[in-house]
Amino acid sequence: LISKEVLEAKTKELAERISRDYKGKDLLVVGVLKGSVIFASELIKNITIPCEIDLWQYLVMEVSETTGVVRILKDLDSEISGKHILIVEDIVDSGVTLSYLLNYLKTRNASSVEIASLLTKPSRRKVDIDCKYVGFETPDEFLVGYGLDYAEKYRNLPFIGILKREVYEK
Ligand code: IMP
Ligand code: MG
Repeated sequence: LISKEVLEAKTKELAERISRDYKGKDLLVVGVLKGSVIFASELIKNITIPCEIDLWQYLVMEVSETTGVVRILKDLDSEISGKHILIVEDIVDSGVTLSYLLNYLKTRNASSVEIASLLTKPSRRKVDIDCKYVGFETPDEFLVGYGLDYAEKYRNLPFIGILKREVYEK
């Protein structure tokens, strides 16, 4: 669906915007494990202003229509208070998990919280999420590669591909 070259060019463009927007601010880039690792590292490499990085990992326990019960597997190590946080995601789908993370961070006195997501599937949204930096809008297909997995496989593909339905519709 999206080639390595196109992904890298778009990531560079987003990193330039981020570098401009956060100039002179205390920026903390938070990669959400595991899906964002490739996008996050590509993005961080191209950010030209001083910043800190951290990682966050959750496990979804239960999801209803608009809320999810999420267990935190790896919390942030950094001091959050007073920082400008940029959450880096691979894809925003229903928006349920990100809305949980946003609410959680709001209780911890960050100066600001914004989202950078490589992909978004707007047609699937259940919770309204304001994503400041978005790479690509994608159709409602199961996507793999560039960090995105199906049963933990395909994360290492250097491009974004559409998983054939016969793989998961058995
Ligand atoms: P949601 O926005 O709370 O529904 O969850 C988004 C998370 O689900 C993403 O961060 C991905 O880890 C995963 N996800 C959603 N759509 C896909 C997909 O097409 N391929 C692989 N993972 C996906
Ligand atoms: Mg994810």
